[in-house]
Amino acid sequence: MSDKGGFPHYMLKEIFEQPQGLRDTIEPRVSLDEAVVRLDEIRISADELRALRRINIVASGTSRHAGIAGQYMIQELANVAVDVDYASEFEYRNPLIGPGEITIVITQSGETADTSAAQREAKAKGSRTIAVSNVVDSTIAREADGVLYTHAGPEISIASTKAFTAQMAVLFLFGLYLGQVRGKLTRERRRQYIRELLDLPEKLTKTLESAPECKLLADEFYKVEDFLFLGRAVHYPVAMDGALKLKEVSYIHAEGYPTGESKHGPIAMLDDKLPVVIIATCDRDDPGSVLRYEKTVANIKGFKLQSARVIAIATEGDEQMPKLADHTIFIPEESELLSPILEIVPLQLFAYYMTVRKGLDVDRPRNLVKSVSVE
Ligand code: BG6
Repeated sequence: MSDKGGFPHYMLKEIFEQPQGLRDTIEPRVSLDEAVVRLDEIRISADELRALRRINIVASGTSRHAGIAGQYMIQELANVAVDVDYASEFEYRNPLIGPGEITIVITQSGETADTSAAQREAKAKGSRTIAVSNVVDSTIAREADGVLYTHAGPEISIASTKAFTAQMAVLFLFGLYLGQVRGKLTRERRRQYIRELLDLPEKLTKTLESAPECKLLADEFYKVEDFLFLGRAVHYPVAMDGALKLKEVSYIHAEGYPTGESKHGPIAMLDDKLPVVIIATCDRDDPGSVLRYEKTVANIKGFKLQSARVIAIATEGDEQMPKLADHTIFIPEESELLSPILEIVPLQLFAYYMTVRKGLDVDRPRNLVKSVSVE
């Protein structure tokens, strides 16, 4: 799998490999007929999971963004408190963790020094550790009590794309498993979530059809020097990762922010030179999502009054958004907690095409390495 397979760059190939990465990560672990998730590989007993008091998630870069999405997923599915930390900051926070807690270390490479140091810190304080890694038998995977492998295949490009969506799928599966073990989810609810997981790869394939539109956006915006990426709730880590993708490969400054927080400062910067990329999807079956969507519509109207150009990621069938935003990229309808897995795809494509339009080496950005083995 580690040649370009006819694609011009590894990053584009890996963006298009995401449906298969999701299939390989999800399908072996669920049974729709029995409405159960099986994660025996975490090697932590059901009793221990039922007694679990709290979960800490620790990671770096894109993996930490997966962790933030996982925080929303696990809290909602299993009703367990979840904290998320930067791996490089974890040891300085003197984390008050111990027995009866699990620390999930998320790392594509399984070799990131900051994350490895955080794993050792958590173990020293008596916490069990679970590694979410894309590399079998990597250092961090070997040192964990349990491992949840993403099966995204080798990720060569420096910017993480297919590992990211597979990490979010694994964290959703873990939340579903925890909810199942702790009796938080009815059989019917589990079956519905499993059905949505199994439908994801096909929906991601459909989302990839927005590639030509993302390329056109790059032709219009590639000379812009600053972007603000915004997202609310579980969409906030998507905004964060969209901004990181653009920074990593195109060297364009971009900041990811919670949408609601943008009024506490950042909107002062908005004018016709600072475009806003905003996650404005809506799960119409989720009243909370509808409320958040209405707030996002109000935010966008404010941005337009400040002459900012707005690129919105919206849910197909939304007839209002194209009238509000300057550009709207649609993704298929998806439940709130799983929508980040689709929403990030146009942002990955946007970052890719912006970089290619600028004539830069998208697979080998300057100063970056695939796994940072120094703290
Ligand atoms: C950074 C990469 O160096 O390391 C990011 O640029 C990545 O893309 C981060 O998310 C963490 O790497 P890993 O392998 O621990 O997930």
